[in-house]
Amino acid sequence: MNFKLEAKDPGSKARTGTITTDHGDIKTPIFMPVGTAGSVKAVHQRELKEDIKAQIILGNTYHLYLRPGLDIIEEAGGLHKFNGWDRPILTDSGGYQVYSLADTRKIKEEGVTFQSHIDGSRHIFSPEAVMDIQRTIGADIIMAFDECTPYPCEYDYAEKSMHMTHRWLKRCCEHFDKTEGKYGYNQTLFPIVQGSVYKDLRTQSAEAIASFEREGNAIGGLSVGEPAEMMYEMTDHVCNILPLDKPRYLMGVGTPANILECIALGIDMFDCVMPTRNARNGMLFTSEGIINIKNKKWERDFSPIDPDLPGYVDNFYSKAYLRHLIMSKEILGAQIASIHNLSFYLWLVGEARVQIEAGTFSQWKNKMVSKVSQRL
Ligand code: GUN
Repeated sequence: MNFKLEAKDPGSKARTGTITTDHGDIKTPIFMPVGTAGSVKAVHQRELKEDIKAQIILGNTYHLYLRPGLDIIEEAGGLHKFNGWDRPILTDSGGYQVYSLADTRKIKEEGVTFQSHIDGSRHIFSPEAVMDIQRTIGADIIMAFDECTPYPCEYDYAEKSMHMTHRWLKRCCEHFDKTEGKYGYNQTLFPIVQGSVYKDLRTQSAEAIASFEREGNAIGGLSVGEPAEMMYEMTDHVCNILPLDKPRYLMGVGTPANILECIALGIDMFDCVMPTRNARNGMLFTSEGIINIKNKKWERDFSPIDPDLPGYVDNFYSKAYLRHLIMSKEILGAQIASIHNLSFYLWLVGEARVQIEAGTFSQWKNKMVSKVSQRL
């Protein structure tokens, strides 16, 4: 993997760049649609490429390991071959899902034992096992095994957990560096900064993570229920410590406004289930603001979903028709709303890139944040 920094915004810490992987380039800042179980819910790979213009998608170690299982993914020749997505993929390590989804989990120095939420079977995720699993899944960018602390979190717990995440990172790196990719292309490992909402812990963690000198760095443990201002403060603080010349990935963030604010703080990569999950419930993010399509006010609105976007579904389908589909729980409603929301997220980060290159990002960002946050 390679990262080339390109433009810098004069009024903020926003920047543009290009990440090069063996499955192609990623222009940053970027949003990565979440494809938990190897599919972005309700969206075809062709739509992801041609309509949404996704450059990289996410997969989840926890889900893919439990189902379909590593033997099947390996027999297919890795996740790219299995799901037909030939552009870059990033996998999360399970260091989040195992805490939020698994049953009866126990965290020890060795790793985490847990029961599958699908069939109750028992498993152990250790840093070494999670590296092996991600080698087999075959994502271009893989994540270190960490503990994502909840919010609120006692200082003592956050501190102990952070140190364990650092010790796990050392084990991840040692194991990753002595193994090889299985499918003939390169993989890279990103470590994750933790430290909850405590500035001194975030300092320690960012310094520790930077000292591993990996090709990119991630920030975790945020967007877990803390106020947005706190998330921005921690992100800003950590970005001031992480090296400038490597991509920074803010995990699990966020709303369109969160993404714009964090681009301004120097974040390059984002992922979040919000555009797809909320789409299925009728929440649309548009260039004019947020629409709850279930609201009666859209019943007879035959205007396009979002005429300011260049995409097919945004212009072809009306709000009234999409409302009807969502109200009737038609599968097509989930498909159109998901494609629309993801197209909007990809349009937003693409537009941010254009504005950074033009040196006009800060003014544009301030205007857009209020526009995209308003409820229509
Ligand atoms: N997704 C959102 N936050 C986190 C985090 O802190 N760690 C991991 N592994 N994944 C995340």
